[in-house]
Amino acid sequence: MTILGIESSCDDTAAAIVRGTPQSADVLSSVVEGQTALHADFGGVVPEIAARAHAERLDAVTARALKQAGVALPEVDAIAVTAGPGLIGGVVSGVMFAKGLAAATGKPLIGVNHLAGHALTPRLTDGVAFPYLMLLVSGGHCQFLIVRGPSDFSRLGGTIDDAPGEAFDKAARILGLPQPGGPSVQAEAEAGDPKRFALPRPLLDRPGCDLSFSGLKTAVLRQRDALVAKDGGLRRQDRADLCASFQAAVAEVLTAKARRAIDNYLQECPDTPLLAVAGGVAANTAIRSHLSDLCIQSGVRFLAPPLALCTDNAAMIGFAGLMLFEDGGQDGFDLSARPRWPLDTTQPAMLGSGKKGAKA
Ligand code: KG4
Ligand code: ZN
Repeated sequence: MTILGIESSCDDTAAAIVRGTPQSADVLSSVVEGQTALHADFGGVVPEIAARAHAERLDAVTARALKQAGVALPEVDAIAVTAGPGLIGGVVSGVMFAKGLAAATGKPLIGVNHLAGHALTPRLTDGVAFPYLMLLVSGGHCQFLIVRGPSDFSRLGGTIDDAPGEAFDKAARILGLPQPGGPSVQAEAEAGDPKRFALPRPLLDRPGCDLSFSGLKTAVLRQRDALVAKDGGLRRQDRADLCASFQAAVAEVLTAKARRAIDNYLQECPDTPLLAVAGGVAANTAIRSHLSDLCIQSGVRFLAPPLALCTDNAAMIGFAGLMLFEDGGQDGFDLSARPRWPLDTTQPAMLGSGKKGAKA
């Protein structure tokens, strides 16, 4: 089975060719064209600019993915496209493009949930067995999921406001560091004292696996203002200490909630328990090492897929599409773009919408 995957739900225009079976598939190509420069002046992703840029670039990006894979369009068995959740203009651009291609070629069309794409990535990269535990931590998402199959997910908890990457980006802006905030806060934190500022550990006092990051960002803002009022400016060391303290707070909260998620997951008694991470924040070395230590203590395997497949890409959409297609999943031309699309409809809806679109 050869699948063309298309992704445009946020600020990456992506296309990929994936070939194989639901048990074992190869990524023949994965082209990702970011839009960072287009949004740089605005301090966040501007939905209208993102949607137009996707509409302009989807054809060229798809042509590159086919060329790099050495696959001609007639060899493609089906077209999988992100149909949500995300910034609606971008999702519409991708869905309309995929529909056009499906109509012109007569190929089957498969609408894929972007979060399912992330959640199924450990199957693509490492062929891991169901059920596994997934922590999705990016600029747009944050949730713990038990993944049982291509359309069988239980959400154990998630953020009730900002995603962690969003909090890193906002903290960086508050401290005058460049975007994206995650890597710059991490670099600055290396020379900082994580214990100097006692920042809050939101929602740790509440049971369950829900998280909150917006208060943490406000605490960074208050601390910065207090330092500026006292010293007339922010010293280099103050900034490093604030970054280190912020990063430690995020890592500790994620790890504490991951401990609860693991306890919950282990009640299903999988023989080979596994926690996998996905999303840009999974690149953070402090967060990774906290999570990996927790997994060692809990007797759970820890898996962080290669970063190019952890962050937004179309290979994950192609692979999720492949799994759905093998299960008989196929959409008609009435496939619609959905700004919100929870993976687990038994759970109450997540609140709020961040800079990267509505929370699923
Ligand atoms: O998954 P991703 O590329 O895109 C979406 O959010 O959809 O994640 C990007 C996010 C940004 O908010 C960025 O600041 C964050 O991941 N990030 C990091 C690091 N590298 C990227 N956050 C913390 N530490 C990092 N090293
Ligand atoms: Zn994503």
